Amino acid sequence: MPNLDALILPKLAALEPSRQQGGLQAGSGPKRLRRHLRPVDGALIDVASNDYLGLSRHPLLIERACQWTKHHGAGSRASRLVTGTSAELLALEEKLAHFKGTEAALIFATGYQLNSSVLPALFELAPQPLVFTDRLNHASLHAGCQGLRQIRFHHNDLGHLEELLTKHPGEFRFIVTESVFSMDGDHADVAALSALAARHGAHLYLDEAHATGVLGPQGKGLSEGRATVTMGTLGKALGGAGAYVAGSRALIDWLVNRCAGFIYSTAPAPAALGALDAALDLVPTMDAERTRLAQMGAALRAALQAKGIDTLASSTQIVPAVLGNEARALAAADALRTAGILVVAIRPPTVPAGSARLRFALSAALSDGQFERVLAAVATL
Ligand SMILES: Cc1ncc(COP(=O)(O)O)c(C=O)c1O
Repeated sequence: MPNLDALILPKLAALEPSRQQGGLQAGSGPKRLRRHLRPVDGALIDVASNDYLGLSRHPLLIERACQWTKHHGAGSRASRLVTGTSAELLALEEKLAHFKGTEAALIFATGYQLNSSVLPALFELAPQPLVFTDRLNHASLHAGCQGLRQIRFHHNDLGHLEELLTKHPGEFRFIVTESVFSMDGDHADVAALSALAARHGAHLYLDEAHATGVLGPQGKGLSEGRATVTMGTLGKALGGAGAYVAGSRALIDWLVNRCAGFIYSTAPAPAALGALDAALDLVPTMDAERTRLAQMGAALRAALQAKGIDTLASSTQIVPAVLGNEARALAAADALRTAGILVVAIRPPTVPAGSARLRFALSAALSDGQFERVLAAVATL
């Protein structure tokens, strides 16, 4: 039996740059892909997290999380189908469905768990499902499509998608995409996508992880009732933890019966549910924060572009600064850290090879002074 560590260590070493002539070799040759868990320095200005509205530290969320914890306990004790469903949780799902404008909604502990288990439950509904996926979809969407051949369309390219839909006819087809792309900060044309889906008799599955709370009327996302299935996460703009899937009552009932990630998993912790309850009260009232976020995004893109740095098609609170190779992205993240700014270098395989980048994720919680410091640091890149 091979020793597991003996198998692992050379593979980890292969992710490190080689050491030549006493120094680290930078540039295009060696990969710098090894990831490390580092404690976060709370003194840094955070433009790396997804707390777009600053709700994770909002007093109302913290208070409601404490109330739910006091009332329901620190844990939910069991799967939703065993003893993990309270009347308050059912009411919260109704509130969420109302927010999304759907008949029903279902809450999961994480978005990864949701995407990777809801999609397989949908693909079970009829024989020979076909799935059309944007090339830049999040890893959790890929996980959900495992076992099926994904027919991938060029990123946000509806012409290409239409060609593929025509080339691959079928009775039971899904288009799976994000509404706002997590690493590029651009968004899909949801109205056009849904019209295309309708023309070709395909269903639209929309991941609103980075749109929920930030875009659309009152921060309700870009779906506006145009997708068969919508999901979003609760740990980003909504400030807590977990994820929701929203759609018809029948869809949610099917998931309760057939979605393994729901059935065989402990219900989300009461604190997360309390935080969500408060976030749903606050988010529709936060238009001023959304406007400021959009203005900050535009200012940051202008500052980066002034330095000749590519920000791709970003039009949201997520702003990539594409630097090419891993070494450059890591060096830029280090330089910004020295200037007191926390921004993360994103490297392959999270993004395509050759497009390593800094990913700025802005938050309405940044003060004007903090944002000025971010712009000043960017000017020195
Ligand atoms: C587009 C997208 N979908 C799903 C997820 C997964 O959500 P969670 O972090 O709740 O697991 C993420 C998380 O980063 C994401 O960016």
